[in-house]
Amino acid sequence: MPVLIAPSILSADFSTLGAEIEAIEAAGADWIHVDVMDGHFVPNITIGPAVVKALRPHARKPFDVHLMIAPVDPYLDAFAEAGADGLTVHPEAGPHIHRSLQHIRKLGRRAGVVLNPGTPIDAIDNLMDLVDLVLIMSVNPGFGGQSFIDSQLRKIEAARRRIDQTGRDIALEVDGGITPETARLAVSAGANVLVAGTAVFSGGPSAYAANIKALRG
Ligand code: DX5
Ligand code: ZN
Repeated sequence: MPVLIAPSILSADFSTLGAEIEAIEAAGADWIHVDVMDGHFVPNITIGPAVVKALRPHARKPFDVHLMIAPVDPYLDAFAEAGADGLTVHPEAGPHIHRSLQHIRKLGRRAGVVLNPGTPIDAIDNLMDLVDLVLIMSVNPGFGGQSFIDSQLRKIEAARRRIDQTGRDIALEVDGGITPETARLAVSAGANVLVAGTAVFSGGPSAYAANIKALRG
């Protein structure tokens, strides 16, 4: 199973995001991971649909939009229209995660569910028929540059078992503290999409290709 690398633009130079996206695509990025934060669901504020829309023409690869906002439902349409290919939502970010995923499907976008480090794996048990992606957070959401929480490896393994039981092609993504070392652990546990901010963007554009290659192991 090929491993996909999804650089998180949270660690990019925000004064020149379009050029940063072009640079990571040229360096081999598979998806563009966009971290949307509202200062309420998580203690940080990043970008909204207008920025996603402005960036979309700078990219050819899929936009993997991770929504850390509550409530999330009122913004699903706006992010889809702005050019998100996938929308990933936290069960805690709205009263009805099942309905949120149904709505993302109705919008024709890849539907993702994401579990915080403290959220049990059982949270996805009744959602498997509605998801195209399961994202396991290996840090508490809100900031780049945090350390990988090892206990999440068991959760990645449990998610892999649940995905395999469906027989469907559901992506298993891991987000937070990914380095060449933790990338290997996450992939061994069953992940096939790795989000990485710090590890991709450190060293500036001339380092991006080598950084991405190092994550592929
Ligand atoms: C955290 C975000 C992550 C984060 C990853 O809330 O969802 O995407 O930016 O950054 P690193 O790779 O630096 O941990
Ligand atoms: Zn993220």
